Amino acid sequence: MDANIVLLPGDGIGPEIVTQGQRVLEAIASRFGHNFVMSEHPIGGNAIDDFGDPLPQATIDACKASDAILLGAVGGPKWDDPAAKTRPEAGLLKIRQELQLFANLRPIQTWDELVDASPLKTEIVAGTDILFFRELTGGVYFGDSGRREHSSGEEAYCEMVYSTGEIERIVRLAAEAARGRQGRVTSVDKANVLEVSRLWRQVAERVMKEEYPDVEYDVVLVDAMAMHLIARPKTFDVVVTGNLFGDILTDAASMLPGSLGLLPSASLGSDGPGLYEPIHGSAPDIAGRGIANPLATFLAAAMLLRHSLKLNEEASVIEAAVAATLKAGHRTADIASGGSSISTSEMGDLVVAQISG
Ligand code: IPM
Ligand code: MN
Repeated sequence: MDANIVLLPGDGIGPEIVTQGQRVLEAIASRFGHNFVMSEHPIGGNAIDDFGDPLPQATIDACKASDAILLGAVGGPKWDDPAAKTRPEAGLLKIRQELQLFANLRPIQTWDELVDASPLKTEIVAGTDILFFRELTGGVYFGDSGRREHSSGEEAYCEMVYSTGEIERIVRLAAEAARGRQGRVTSVDKANVLEVSRLWRQVAERVMKEEYPDVEYDVVLVDAMAMHLIARPKTFDVVVTGNLFGDILTDAASMLPGSLGLLPSASLGSDGPGLYEPIHGSAPDIAGRGIANPLATFLAAAMLLRHSLKLNEEASVIEAAVAATLKAGHRTADIASGGSSISTSEMGDLVVAQISG
């Protein structure tokens, strides 16, 4: 297969982990006889420095012309000034919107090898396997916002908006995924307070009843969900929710497996390239030291192969290589729990060696 893959290393540890991700994709290409053409483009803080724009048009064009995109991370203290004209995060929001990546898949799985790394008790987290579908191009992230005068000074507002069509398409994707898993969908909203959530609930219920009667369906309020995720994470299969609730709940859920360094995500539209990234950030505190954990990026590369290139066997080979490397006891500092640790590139070497056989 010929595929055109855009690499967006970004800021902080992004370049270090994407370099290793590229090696893993190259190892897959040579083992399976594929031709992956990979090119790097700027996004985030470094793009602000070099081009005055966190998402230069050339990056957008390259992404649109690609088959899939592998992103590192954006942001850092250097660009955190609240008075700044633009921020690295704006680049991320814009690429989601430009490519209409409305579905953000965030799988939360615990690894038996690392269950001790979880801040929660083993009997609560072991065996957790949740797939979140976070709506990514709507809701309060993209509603009208601004400031206006107020008797006390000023007031600020952000509108949370969802349409029937936006709700239907994300719920359908979640339900389809549930059919290939345990057949259960939980929709999370705040329908006791928010009108947007009442529409969300109505539409989700109709889609599930009419189109997916074979899939079990329930609803949970977002505040209760925060509690259930910690108390009984094993009881969830597929969870679907809006942009802001999904942002918060998936960060909470990311602690279940113990390390942010192992969690990949995929952002997909109805056609066109998908964007794949580790869910951790740019970790400016450890950037440049060669100690970042590249495993989430490898697992993101596996999702890229599976979802955008339909290369299921190749994706499984990466996942198995990561599992085998962990099983053999190799750890980067973030998951070493005080034991000895290896560097980002050593982890890359080990996984590449597993893939190459
Ligand atoms: C995420 C991040 C982003 C978000 C930020 C960096 C814009 O937190 O991908 O979850 O809020 O969506
Ligand atoms: Mn987030």
